Amino acid sequence: MAPRVAVLASGRGSNLQALIDAARGGAPFEIALVVTDRADAFALERAKQSDLPARLVDRRRFAERRALEREIERVLDDADIAWVALAGFMRVLTAAFIATRPDRIVNIHPSLLPAFRGLHTHRRALETGVRITGCTVHVVRPALDDGPIIAQAAVPVLADDDETTLAARVLEREHQIYPLALGLMTSGAGVVDGEQVRLVKPVAEPPQGFIWPKLA
Ligand code: GRF
Repeated sequence: MAPRVAVLASGRGSNLQALIDAARGGAPFEIALVVTDRADAFALERAKQSDLPARLVDRRRFAERRALEREIERVLDDADIAWVALAGFMRVLTAAFIATRPDRIVNIHPSLLPAFRGLHTHRRALETGVRITGCTVHVVRPALDDGPIIAQAAVPVLADDDETTLAARVLEREHQIYPLALGLMTSGAGVVDGEQVRLVKPVAEPPQGFIWPKLA
């Protein structure tokens, strides 16, 4: 049976959609649950359209971060969730939450980490004048946008880009890389070794422009 993944999303959920589509197309994981902390998240609508169970753990009901996390932990345990994929989940998770699924919580971030952690990555990439940016899928650690890198995809910054055009170019790559990177981990081909991810089984060559872990 494919490992059961919950996707945590606070917003439009386009990466959630990419993961749902990949799972249904034979990727080595099952999207078993969608969890959101916002009642107006379009991710909820996507779950409904895909006939997937979804749970709202409304951030407005919890004064304390740990209380909200505990409720999410309960929801995940009830659904027998092995892996968590963060997809635009706008909360920083505590070490206590992360410890519930060691090395089995992953995130996608719209920059080539460790550059541009945090918000407004594309604006900052344009301001800094980098010629290449991209996206990163990594294992989650308590520090913001930190943790062993699973895979990255590089995207050029073009002379006439603005935040919108650059974000769209990166997002297209996010939708490709997230299912591939999650699949590397859930299939057991990628393993966390200290602060790095290594491949312990040969896998298919990544698509052009994608950067993959080394074979151990
Ligand atoms: C993506 O750019 C993702 O990298 C970042 O938040 C955004 C979420 O977009 N963490 P979506 O909700 O998946 O469309």
